[in-house]
Amino acid sequence: EIFTDAEEASKIVAHEIAALIRYKTEKNEKCVLGLATGSSPIKVYKELIRMHREEGLSFRNVVSFNLDEYYGLSKSDVQSYIYFMHHHLFDHVDILAENINIPNGKVPYEHMSEACTQYEEKIESYGGLDFQLLGIGRTGHIGFNEPGSKINSLTRMITLDHLTIQDNAFAFSSMADVPTKAVTMGVGTILNAKRVVILAWGMKKAEIVKKTVEGEMSSDVPATFLQQHKDVSFVMDESAALNL
Ligand code: GLP
Repeated sequence: EIFTDAEEASKIVAHEIAALIRYKTEKNEKCVLGLATGSSPIKVYKELIRMHREEGLSFRNVVSFNLDEYYGLSKSDVQSYIYFMHHHLFDHVDILAENINIPNGKVPYEHMSEACTQYEEKIESYGGLDFQLLGIGRTGHIGFNEPGSKINSLTRMITLDHLTIQDNAFAFSSMADVPTKAVTMGVGTILNAKRVVILAWGMKKAEIVKKTVEGEMSSDVPATFLQQHKDVSFVMDESAALNL
């Protein structure tokens, strides 16, 4: 789905999420959202906050699971994804603290595999993700599933690609300060979501958008695995769609 600008597209995505939250709330069911960080979803979160403030959209029934976190960072680090989520969404809506789930980047290495299994089990305990929001990295990563990630991969620790470290360095004092590892939901975790919306804005994403949409499905570009999802939309602006 190609839009003239990211603002208009983000509003449409936010409205879909809001409709799902309201539908689930009416049925007295939890709305289980998979959420993403990065610059791509910021306008979606802005619109959701506006709807909370002006239209009474309530998040009390929402359970959220974030895609990923840098290994070694926690809420006190401004570059952490837990900080990001509070800053861009959670602190501005009425989501309950106990319903927020983000992979913990501070778990000691030897306990990480157990923590990842628990994250998967917790998602399962809610009946899986109703909706997963995604951005895309220039390596073709979704979450932090870098090239090489398998279609059935689950939540785990991963080593970040050089290009990812370079792209994310702007938030840190130097490239050397970017964590080299992260904890991420797997491709399989993402594919299990009932509905997936992936966002891409700007010319910088045009090349990877083409590979993802038109390329062959392969671990070399993990986002291509979305091609086999039953209910996925790739929402982009005209610049990101330039090579299609
Ligand atoms: C990070 C995140 C991804 C995100 C990607 C793209 O590496 N782990 O979830 O999709 O960056 O970021 P942006 O939206 O800023 O282009």
